[in-house]
Amino acid sequence: MNKPWWKDKIVYQIYPKSFADSNGDGIGDLKGIIGKLPYLQALGVDILWLCPVFCSPMADNGYDISDYEHIDPMFGTDEDMTELIAEAKRHGIRILLDLVINHTSDRHAWFQAALRDPESPEASFYVLKKGVNGGPPNNWRAIFGGSVWERIGETDLYYYHTFAKEQPDLNWENPVLREELYRMIRGWLEKGIAGFRIDAIAFIKKDPEYASYPPDDADGMVAVQRGGENQPGIGDFLKELKEQTFSKYDCLTVAEATGISLDEVAAFAGPDGYFSMTFNFLLCDIDLTGDYRWYEPRKWDAKDFRKCFFDVMEATSSVGYGPNFFENHDLPRSLNHYIPEEDIGFMSASMLATLLLTAHGVPFIYQGEELGMTNAGRSSIDEFEDLSTRDQHERAIAAGVPPEQALLYMNQRSRDHSRTPFQWNAGPGAGFSTGEPWLKLNPNYVTVNAEAEEKDPDSILSYYRNLIRLRKGYLYNVLCDGDLREYKTGDSDIIAYTRTNGTESVLIAHNFSSSDTTLPLGGAYEVLLTNGPAPDFTAGGAVLKPYQSVILRPENGPIAEGGARN
Ligand code: GLC
Ligand code: CA
Repeated sequence: MNKPWWKDKIVYQIYPKSFADSNGDGIGDLKGIIGKLPYLQALGVDILWLCPVFCSPMADNGYDISDYEHIDPMFGTDEDMTELIAEAKRHGIRILLDLVINHTSDRHAWFQAALRDPESPEASFYVLKKGVNGGPPNNWRAIFGGSVWERIGETDLYYYHTFAKEQPDLNWENPVLREELYRMIRGWLEKGIAGFRIDAIAFIKKDPEYASYPPDDADGMVAVQRGGENQPGIGDFLKELKEQTFSKYDCLTVAEATGISLDEVAAFAGPDGYFSMTFNFLLCDIDLTGDYRWYEPRKWDAKDFRKCFFDVMEATSSVGYGPNFFENHDLPRSLNHYIPEEDIGFMSASMLATLLLTAHGVPFIYQGEELGMTNAGRSSIDEFEDLSTRDQHERAIAAGVPPEQALLYMNQRSRDHSRTPFQWNAGPGAGFSTGEPWLKLNPNYVTVNAEAEEKDPDSILSYYRNLIRLRKGYLYNVLCDGDLREYKTGDSDIIAYTRTNGTESVLIAHNFSSSDTTLPLGGAYEVLLTNGPAPDFTAGGAVLKPYQSVILRPENGPIAEGGARN
C-alpha cells in the first residue's frame, strides 16, 4: 500500500468562534488563531481543521454558508486567511477547511434568487417540491426538528432542509450546481490548503420517491435518515466529486459520512475510496439508543467500549488509516462522556489521551481536550445557545420526560459543552477575550487552563506533549505505521493491543475502570510510558491502577496475539 503524506500527522480541531479573540468583541477570529500557532506547534500539531469561517448568518454557527468564497467579517478578512495559511506553514502546520456542500444558508445569493423566482436557474440548485393535500410533500423530520419541508411564502412549493430551515439542501441531481461547487472547491485547494473535512456528505442523495413512512415518534414524523441518508446512487456523486476536485491535488479529505456501516468503509475511504478517511461514530454514539434522540440514553460499559474500539480499528486499518477522535464540536467533552463524574481527573484524561494517540490511524484532538476541559453545566435550558439542544429538549418534554430529567440529558449531551471558550489562563475572560465571551465560560478555567498546565510537568497538557513527542520520535515506527492487534485479556475492563512494525513491538494497555486490575503478561517487560506509578509486576501480570495506561516493550522480541510470546 503506498503511504499517504498525512498518515503520521496529528490533527487539531479548532472551533474558531471559541478559540482566541484578537479584538475583544467576544468572538474568536483568524488573527487569534495566528497568535496561538506557537502553542499549537509546541503541542506537536501538524494539521489544523477549522470549523467553517466563511460568510454566514450563523444560524448554525457557520454551518450555514452564505458565501463560500469569502471569510465572514466576524472572523476577519480574506487576507487574514491567506496570512493564516502562510504563517501556519512557517510553524510546520497546514490548514484543513470545513466543506459544507449538502446545504447553504438561506441567505446565500442562490437561495435568495430561488425565492424570488422559483423558475430561475438558481431555484434548480435547491430541492423544491409541491405540497400534498395542503401539507408538506412527506413526513420526514429534520435533524434539528420539525419537517424537512418549509413552505415558500404563499405558494404551494416547499424547499427541503435536512438540518435547520435556515439550511436549505442543495440539489445534487443538477450537474450545473455540482460544477459550481467543484469550481469553488478547486479554488480553495489552489490556495495551498491541506484539504477538507467534509460536512454531512451522506445526505446529498435523497430517495427520489420521497415517500412518507410510518412515524417513529409522537410527532407523526420519521427521521430524515430514513430516505435522505446514504441512499443508493450516492456513490456516483461522490466519485465525480473526487475526480473533479480532490484527486487533482494531493489533499487530505475526511468525511462526516454518517449512516455508513463498517462494511462500507472500504468504498468510502482509503486509496480507492471517495475520501482519504471517514469518521466513524460507533464510539461517540455508544450511549444513544440509535434513534437520534439524546433523551433516551442507554447504559454501556468498558466491554462495550472495547468492542466498538476494536471493530472500528479493524474496519479502518484494513483500508488504510482512520481518523481517531473522542471529541468534536457536536459532542460533549470526552471526560464527561466516557468517565463517571467522580473519576474525572488526570488519570482518566491521560488514559483517553494514550488511547487516542496510540491507536492505529490519525489522532484528532479537539481544542481544550489536551487541557482536560469538561462540560459546563447549565441550570436552565435558556442558558443553552445551540439550536439542536433546544430542539432535543423540546422533543424530550413533548415525549413526557420530566423537566429536571430533560435538563440533565441536555447537560450530558449538548453541543454547547465543547463550544465554551478555550481556557488560556486564569485571568479575566480566561485569556480568550478581553470582552464578554459570546458563550459563557466554564468556571473551572481558574484551574483548568493552558498557562497553569504549561508550567506543571504533571499536568494533562504536559502528558499530551510528552506522548506526542514519543509518537513522533522514539515510537514513530510502531505508532505511526505499525499493525494493531487486540491483546486479549479475558473479560476484564482492560483494553489492550500490540502495535508491531517488523521486529519492533510494543504492548499498550488501559485499565478502563476505577479498580486495580491485572493485565496478564507472559514475560518480562520494560515500561516505556505510564500515567501512573510503575506497575507492580506480580506473578503472571502487571497490576494497573484505576485508569492507568502503560506502554510496554517486551524484553524478548515480539508478542503473539492473546498474550503468549513467540
Ligand atoms: C454537521 C456538523 C454540525 C452541523 C451539521 C449541519 O453534523 O458537524 O455541527 O450542525 O453538520 O451542517
Ligand atoms: Ca474577535
